[in-house]
Amino acid sequence: MRAKIIGTGSCLPDKIATNDYLSTIVDTNDEWIQSRTGIQERHLVSSEAENTLSMAVKAAQRALLDADVLPEQLDLILVATVSSDFITPSTACMIQKELNACHATAFDINAACSGFLFALNTVDAYFQTGIYQTALIIGVETLSKIINWSDRSTCVLFGDGAGAVVAKASEEGILASLQGSDGTKGDILICKNRTNNNPYITTETNPDFLFMNGQEVFKFAVTKEPECIQSLLNQAKINASEVDYYLLHQANYRIIASIARKLKLPLEKFPINVDHCGNTSAASIPILLDEVNKAGKLEEGSLLLLSGFGAGLTWGAVLLKW
Ligand code: ACO
Repeated sequence: MRAKIIGTGSCLPDKIATNDYLSTIVDTNDEWIQSRTGIQERHLVSSEAENTLSMAVKAAQRALLDADVLPEQLDLILVATVSSDFITPSTACMIQKELNACHATAFDINAACSGFLFALNTVDAYFQTGIYQTALIIGVETLSKIINWSDRSTCVLFGDGAGAVVAKASEEGILASLQGSDGTKGDILICKNRTNNNPYITTETNPDFLFMNGQEVFKFAVTKEPECIQSLLNQAKINASEVDYYLLHQANYRIIASIARKLKLPLEKFPINVDHCGNTSAASIPILLDEVNKAGKLEEGSLLLLSGFGAGLTWGAVLLKW
């Protein structure tokens, strides 16, 4: 049995930060941001009540409703995130409590922007072994709390949000998948955790923020992601043109356009939300999937290819039948 997605949901904070608003905080402007990234605005949490858990729960409830599945029918909850509210318990366990998903096993996965794909592949592997049959998978980020809001080279890129899917073990669903990582290049996109202050070590406790070598990440993305997509298509023995939609990680419009060019495909096959969401890391692909689904663009049997890259470095791709 393979994982078949039977429902989607998402949640974006109400507060929208436009490029013009960011230009009041750092030395930037709408023209620079749009021409370099395609981003026009992003959603950011704007109160203590909005956080990783609250967005994830709303996205999950919407996906469960869409799938017509009750929380107690779930036997697995996986959350992909690098911005949990707590170090422990995991966000997945906190969601289990909020939903009262009393029969589920729950845990988090940290693979940055590839996290949702890694979680989907994990669910698919469990389904293939027959251990679980019904899963909730959530990608969620409150990146605004790990961004240095005085660093114009990163703060304009990211947004907050959550996307969720419900997957069921089924004869058809995921057709092929692959994933990978290269820890040797981890330092081009990095965010340290808290420093140690035990009885033997005293360290400065300056907060650490996300650091990114943008040009290196760009090079990695435009090389690795098309390679990964092509390998997956070869593995599945499918022509690139047979795929109805390519749902790629939404980091930068230029990266997506470059991949479309490399695959010799029209941009219409590449839905985007980076323009109004920015880069929401692990949440970007499930938010996009929910938008495409709710817009009525998917039919039974539609072929979708989901693909992304992220910190670690990590990458992954999944080909599935809707
Ligand atoms: N506004 C105005 N100017 C800026 C800004 C800004 N927000 N940010 C940087 N600049 C300036 C720089 O200071 C530099 O000025 P200088 O020439 O005077 O030194 C100039 O713009 C060019 O900077 P670059 O970093 O060379 O700009 P580049 O064209 O490479 O674009 C960008 C930067 C958009 C970050 C690009 O490198 C990129 O998209 N990289 C990939 C990023 C990405 O995909 N990240 C994913 C994040 S995590 C993930 O999803 C895995």
